[in-house]
Amino acid sequence: MRLLVTGGAGFIGSNFVHHIVEHTDHTVTVLDALTYAGNRASLAGLPSERVRFVRGDITDAALVEELFAGADAVVHYAAESHNDNSLDDPRPFLDTNIIGTYTLLEAARRHGTRFHHISTDEVYGDLELDDPARFTETTPYNPSSPYSSTKAGSDLLVRAWVRSFGVRATISNCSNNYGPYQHVEKFIPRQITNVIRGIRPKLYGAGANVRDWIHADDHSSAVLTILEKGRIGETYLIGADGERSNRDVVELILTLMGQPADAYDHVADRAGHDLRYAIDSSKLRSELGWAPRFGDFEGGLAATIDWYRDNEDWWAPAKDATEAFYAGKGQ
Ligand code: NAD
Ligand code: DAU
Repeated sequence: MRLLVTGGAGFIGSNFVHHIVEHTDHTVTVLDALTYAGNRASLAGLPSERVRFVRGDITDAALVEELFAGADAVVHYAAESHNDNSLDDPRPFLDTNIIGTYTLLEAARRHGTRFHHISTDEVYGDLELDDPARFTETTPYNPSSPYSSTKAGSDLLVRAWVRSFGVRATISNCSNNYGPYQHVEKFIPRQITNVIRGIRPKLYGAGANVRDWIHADDHSSAVLTILEKGRIGETYLIGADGERSNRDVVELILTLMGQPADAYDHVADRAGHDLRYAIDSSKLRSELGWAPRFGDFEGGLAATIDWYRDNEDWWAPAKDATEAFYAGKGQ
């Protein structure tokens, strides 16, 4: 297959491109605007006969039209992805996540292209800490932030284009990813690179909030499975049973990095901070036979710490500006 991957220079998109090169014979065209979050170095070393890079915007209808003409399937990762940025300036989230997805769907409609839309568990809002429930494909949408509301809007556009125009699309909603190539603005890489730099990790509020962690490579294998075997029009939740409180994760990072487990600071909480996410991925597992390979969060986290230690050239250029942004917000 000839795959078009939007956002393929970002964190999860680049992990997916590496996964495709390693596990399939597909060729990949990456369409990425290289915003502050995109990094060509995340695709370094991949064979040029398998991976082509095009710098461009998913809201550019003429460029999108041209690229769809040469694609058998499209996997759509491109997005503004960070909740804290969306609280600061929501506008780019509307442009990319809503108008960008609309632009791609119109091209998919014209070309009849197989389309897979990458989304998030945040569209479902949050769960109470003591609630045994987890999100399923039938949980009602209830997003909290500008980011998650634009992702919810993009999911609904995909559903409408399937029903009204027969677009051959699937959707996946995944929980929090960790692994290599994640921007230092995000929780886990921020704390790892803080410790490397001798800065104390920063925990929002009390740190009781729970996230459901999955390794980015497991997300990639799930997306490939859905692309190959998923039923058109269906939504699949992706998760690896990785619930942990933020406090537990910070303490584990500090311990794995040889520091006292309590050597962190509590800082201002995020506005509207979702309490807990938890995914029930039984539909994906039972219908399509997918299973995660990184069962051990501690082992995956240790490997991720090693990756940031070994790849300071990759993350250092973004570190100071990211910390200045947080300092301005008391975080
Ligand atoms: P990221 O911010 O690391 O990467 C986003 C990429 O999209 C960047 O390379 C950026 O340059 C590109 N991009 C942004 N706007 C663009 C535009 N207008 N045109 C073309 N390219 C553009 O994000 P990520 O964490 O890798 O997330 C990727 C996708 O996965 C998003 O759709 C996100 O909602 C979803 N998701 C993320 C997580 C997570 O834990 N990070 C979990 C579930 C779902
Ligand atoms: O659930 C999937 C979502 O996971 C994706 O849709 C988003 O794109 C992705 O960014 C992520 O969203 P979160 O807001 O959960 O991730 P973030 O890494 O920003 O924060 C994780 C948790 O850690 C959250 O409860 C906020 C907290 N946090 C974050 C930072 C940056 C801290 O306590 N301290 C920090 O410095």
